[in-house]
Amino acid sequence: MKKLIIGNWKMALGYQQSLELAENLVLSQPPRPLLAEVVVCPSPVAISSVANILEGTAIFWGAQDAAEQTPGALTGETSLESLVELDCRFILLGHSERRQFFNETDAIINAKLRAVIERTTIKPVVCLGEDLATRQFGQAEEKVSRQLQAVLAGIILPADRELIIAYEPIWAIGTGQTSTPEQAQAMHQFIRQELEQLGYPNNRLLYGGSVKPDNAASLLAMPDIDGLLVGGASLTADSFWPIVFAQ
Ligand code: 13P
Repeated sequence: MKKLIIGNWKMALGYQQSLELAENLVLSQPPRPLLAEVVVCPSPVAISSVANILEGTAIFWGAQDAAEQTPGALTGETSLESLVELDCRFILLGHSERRQFFNETDAIINAKLRAVIERTTIKPVVCLGEDLATRQFGQAEEKVSRQLQAVLAGIILPADRELIIAYEPIWAIGTGQTSTPEQAQAMHQFIRQELEQLGYPNNRLLYGGSVKPDNAASLLAMPDIDGLLVGGASLTADSFWPIVFAQ
């Protein structure tokens, strides 16, 4: 299975900047065989135009979030149906910034995941991870296990669908403090065991949190790290391509 590298552009870029980055990525793609599956998730206003630029290239696009409700009177929200129209192939769900700044709970993320599976063929990327205090208290696995169970409660995944989990320890996001490859591997192995026990054998596990060109290869070398979710370093072609080609 190819490694999956997803760039999460968050709300870091304006509309024009998003288009420029998409164009730069296409123009500067190294002329070597691409061994990874590559995805970028622009802000919602830019998805359509970025998609026009990336159409026919090796780079896929996705969304950072969507509402779980069906289209209707929900001011300010983005529907899954509109993301389907834009050919989004992936969607991030439950990013820690959504949990922290927009009060997204495991129950909301569970509802979003259910909506994605029932109403679209978009691949869900469910984000989770512990904060620093939880890790320091030695309770990281317990926390992640509880998040997994809550987010997956009652979710029936058809046999032809895969579940992608992005393990993003909060203490590593945007801090420059990456989990060591061994720490990340241990957690990924734990998550994979939990997923198998919960009945989701068809899964891929991404690591996120201060991934940079100089640590990507050692993370990707770990047996249970199937890919990376990259924030800051996905915002320039100069740092994103070396991560994509790191393995
Ligand atoms: P950074 O790579 O900037 O730490 O962000 C990680 C992240 O949150 C990706 O979703």
